[in-house]
Order: sequence, then C-alpha cells, then structure tokens
Amino acid sequence: MATVEPGVARHYDIAGLEQRILAALAETGVDIAHLRAGDLEAVDEFHIGGIAATRELLGQMGLKPGARLLDIGSGVGGPARFAANNAGADVTGIDLTQSYVDIATSLSKRTGMAEKTRFVQGSALDMPFANASFDAAMILHVGMNLSDKKKLMSEAARVLKPGGVFAVYDVMRLKAGALTYPVPWASNETMSFVATPDDYRSAATACGFSVVAERQRGAFAVEFFAAIRARMAAAQAEGKKPAPGVGLVMGEDARTKIANITAALEGGILAPVELLLRLG
Ligand SMILES: C[S@@+](CC[C@H](N)C(=O)[O-])C[C@H]1O[C@@H](n2cnc3c(N)ncnc32)[C@H](O)[C@@H]1O
Repeated sequence: MATVEPGVARHYDIAGLEQRILAALAETGVDIAHLRAGDLEAVDEFHIGGIAATRELLGQMGLKPGARLLDIGSGVGGPARFAANNAGADVTGIDLTQSYVDIATSLSKRTGMAEKTRFVQGSALDMPFANASFDAAMILHVGMNLSDKKKLMSEAARVLKPGGVFAVYDVMRLKAGALTYPVPWASNETMSFVATPDDYRSAATACGFSVVAERQRGAFAVEFFAAIRARMAAAQAEGKKPAPGVGLVMGEDARTKIANITAALEGGILAPVELLLRLG
C-alpha cells in the first residue's frame, strides 16, 4: 500500500456513519425498514452535483444493459446503485476505505440491490481484478487522492476490455493558487494530489486511451454549493434542521470543508471536469 493510503482512509472513515445516515433519513419520514435506493440519493453521492452529476456522466457512457461496470473509489455506493438501476449495469465498486465498503454493501442489501452491486476493499492503484474483466469503468471525485495518475490510467486500461469506456469526473486544477484545508477529500496537503486536465489527458493517452469528450463543470459546481448554502440558511431562519445532504458524509467539519472548496471553485482555481476516455 502506498504510504498516503492509510491516512486517506482515516480521513474518510467516520464513526457510525451508516447509523447517522439512517437516523437522518428516518427524521425526514423515510421508512428505513423498506428503504429504496432513491431514498438515499441526497446522502450517498459523495461528489459535486450529487445525483445530477452521476446521471449526466452515465448518460455519456452508452452502457448496454448487463454491462460489467467498475466504479473506482465507490464510496458508500450511490453512483454504483444509480448505474445498476438506471443503466441496467452489473456493478463492482472498489474503495480504499473499509468502512465505506461495508456501508455500501449494507445499503445495497437494505435497498434490495445486493445482486446487482458488489463492493470490495482495495486501491485504485493496484486493483484485485483480472485483465480485461470490465466493459466500462467510472471514477467520481477520487483522483484528487491518487498520487500517480499514470498508475490509475494503466490499472483502468488493464482491467477494461478493448474499446471500453472510462468516465472520469474529478476535481482538477485550472490555475495556480493555494488551497486551504480541510477540503472534502483531504484533511491536509499531504493527501491531496489535484492535477490539471492536461495531466489526466497525458496519463490517459500514454496508457492507450483516446479522449472522446471533455467538459469543465465550474459554474455547475458553484451553483451546487450556493444551493446548499441557501437551503442551510433557509432552515436556520425557520429554526429547523437542514435536510440531510452530502455534508453528512463529510463529518463534523463539513462546513469548513465546503467553505474551503467553494472559495477555490469561485476563485477559478479548481473545477470538476468530466473526461470521457475510450480504450484504443
Ligand atoms: C469523495 S469520495 C467519492 C466517492 C464516490 N465516488 C462518490 O462519488 O460517491 C472519494 C472516495 O475515494 C476513495 N479513495 C481514495 N483513495 C483511494 C484509492 N487509492 N483507491 C480506492 N479508493 C480510494 C475514498 O475512500 C472515498 O470513498
């Protein structure tokens, strides 16, 4: 295991997270005993733009029903469940953080999706899968924790079948400028490896991918966080608890993490970028 990985896993590991998610949903009237995947969508999509971003990324992948899809850095499983439900994919998720793998597995079981989604613990940089074992792969907001983009791309190229699509949706650096920590993916700079779209493209093409499409989503990201702030302010003004959202998976310092990433997005230093790659 590369040396930064234990620290990264600790950064994401939040005590009692599954129970917190379930309790927060129950408070809003969700029937936890009969959970549906859609009930989780505000809290199990751990990336900018939530379910809307996953839908848009997936929409570009052209998956056929039954396609074997790999979700690299699958978190608590929201994007994997969405892909299984909406594109009919058979999804395998891999994630570094054992507690996320356990929560993803449990939430899939609770939502009757254990057959279509499975989750394993492991590193994106050394995946326990055979060569050419997936039709497609996706990675959402994980590359910022990966020190070696070339290794990510070579591993993705290795496990994909020829012609396979790899959809990337990561926070990337658009210009120079200091970041203030913590941010949602890193407690401090030792675990943050934000790279430019150019870095991703060169790593990808060096590993046999061609770039099919690319889209910067800076304005979308700024709007996403503005909407979260507006919801929180409205709830506060009414003396209510804000509805559960992605902040739940960010832990106690969620507000600081959101403020710091918002500053970098508004300053044009960072933006989420979609890159659609095809092997060969
Ligand atoms: C911001 S979350 C995104 C989770 C998920 N992709 C989503 O969009 O809901 C980043 C995830 O990357 C995982 N991660 C970080 N470094 C990793 C690595 N080297 N290999 C696999 N997963 C990793 C973390 O454990 C965490 O679950």
